[in-house]
This record gives sequence, structure tokens and C-alpha cells, in this order.
Amino acid sequence: MAGRLEGRRAIVTGGAAGIGRAIAERYAREGARVLVADIDGEAARRVAASIDAEAERVDVTAAAEIEALVEHAVDAFGGLDVMVNNAGIGVAATAPETSEDDWQRVLDVCLKGTFLGMKYAIPAIREAGGGSVINMSSVAALVGVKDRAAYCAAKGGVLALTRAAAIDHVGEGVRINCIAPGTVDTPWIERITGGYDDPAQARRDMESRQPHGRFVTPEEIAAMAVYLASDEAGSVIGGVMVVDGGMTAR
Ligand SMILES: NC(=O)c1ccc[n+]([C@@H]2O[C@H](COP(=O)([O-])OP(=O)(O)OC[C@H]3O[C@@H](n4cnc5c(N)ncnc54)[C@H](O)[C@@H]3O)[C@@H](O)[C@H]2O)c1
Repeated sequence: MAGRLEGRRAIVTGGAAGIGRAIAERYAREGARVLVADIDGEAARRVAASIDAEAERVDVTAAAEIEALVEHAVDAFGGLDVMVNNAGIGVAATAPETSEDDWQRVLDVCLKGTFLGMKYAIPAIREAGGGSVINMSSVAALVGVKDRAAYCAAKGGVLALTRAAAIDHVGEGVRINCIAPGTVDTPWIERITGGYDDPAQARRDMESRQPHGRFVTPEEIAAMAVYLASDEAGSVIGGVMVVDGGMTAR
């Protein structure tokens, strides 16, 4: 039986770990040709080798690197149908505690990286006759999350940018949506909790704030990313797809 993404050509940024890796692996299983892009080039190559995909080291904050990344996909696959702007970082801090450097870094990777991904991928997807852009926002765009000032701002920006672009490109067959994950069990959680005095307690606190009592899995986010990339989501445009274990429902 053909996969749900048979023949689709996709780039996944931040594809070497966590959510991005789960998306790249699931896309490959669904029949897509995948380019795994990550600032950790070695890890990207390892993931790509395990799923028979392409890999490239890329910093999503560098315009020339994103432009070259899209060219790589078009050259290797003959076109581009799906762009997943997933790469992101966070810092655990309130606004007064956030340094200007941290603010800039979080905004650059999460928001500018998403902007650049759309800037270069949308023309290629249009050229291919249409397709799907999937941006990784967060529940932090929808509700205030404690100690995440810069991150909430960046992910709110990703949501607003998604909606703006969705309207701009709806007439060209390019559907643009974002996903708002709750707390997903990835290497990211270890880094965030590592900044607290008691990392194990911080991890338990993050898990217990989920109404369904557990972390969301990367595979559950990948399932949404498959849906958004597929023709089944033909009327899903400018959407914010919440996958959060009920976190924003209360
Ligand atoms: N884990 C969560 O709880 C959670 C919740 C909501 C949203 N998100 C978002 O999902 C996305 C993936 O998060 P994750 O938990 O898998 O994180 P992760 O840290 O496990 O993986 C992120 C990947 O992005 C790469 N990366 C970082 N900076 C980059 C850059 N400048 N250019 C290219 N690649 C870069 C990293 O090397 C890493 O492989 C992020 O945008 C994050 O904000 C995560």
C-alpha cells in the first residue's frame, strides 16, 4: 500500500533530534523523499543514513544557507513540496532575567529561521505546483508559560507569521499552518530542566502540568505533520494545530 506522502519531497529543519527527527523518520516511512537539515551536521547525516534521506548542515538563521538548502532539495529531488520549519531553541527566564543576547538568539532561531525558511521554500513549492509549509509554534504562543518570556514571544511571532503567510499564498496552492505542541519528551527537556537547581523536580513539574499526566511524544507531533503535509488537509490553511495533552483546555 502506498504511503500517505508517496512521492512528496520535503525538507525538515532541526531534523537531527527530537520532534524534527520523528517527523523526518515518519515522512520517510510514508513514502516522502526527505532532506534532513540541522546545525549539527553529523547528527543530521546519521538520521538521514538510517532512513535513506539526504542531509545538510545548516544554520536556519543564515539566509545564504537556507537558500542553498532549498536548492539542494530541488536539485536532489527535482522539486520541493513540503517545508517543515521546525528548528528552535529556548531559554528558561522571565523578561527581567533574560539577557539581550539570549533574547536575540531565541528570536533569531525560532522566528527569523522560520521567516527565512518560508522566504526561500515558498517560491520553490509554488514552482512545483503547490504544497505545504509547516511551522513549529508552541502552546507558548497561546498561553503564558512560566519562565519563558523570550520563547513565548518568538512562538507568538511564528503563529502570527504563519497566519499572514497563509493568506498571502492561499491562492497559489501553498498551504501554510503551524503546530502548537505541549510539552514533548525530547533532548530539549533535559536542557531546559538542566537550568534549574533541581532538574529532576523541574522535569516532574513539567510532566505534571500536562492534564493527561504524561509528556506528549515526538511521534504524536509527527502524526500531525504527516496530516498537514497530505492532501487530506486540503482545507486546513493558517491553522494552529494544538497537540498538547489538554494543556490549553483548562
Ligand atoms: N519539546 C517541547 O516540549 C516543545 C514544545 C513546543 C514546541 N517545541 C518546538 O519544537 C521544535 C523542536 O523541538 P525539540 O524539542 O525537538 O528540540 P531539540 O532541541 O530536541 O531539537 C532541535 C533540533 O534543532 C537543531 N537546531 C538548533 N538550532 C538550530 C539552527 N540554528 N539551525 C538549524 N538547526 C538548529 C538542533 O541541533 C536539534 O537537532 C522547536 O521549534 C521547539 O521550540 C518543542
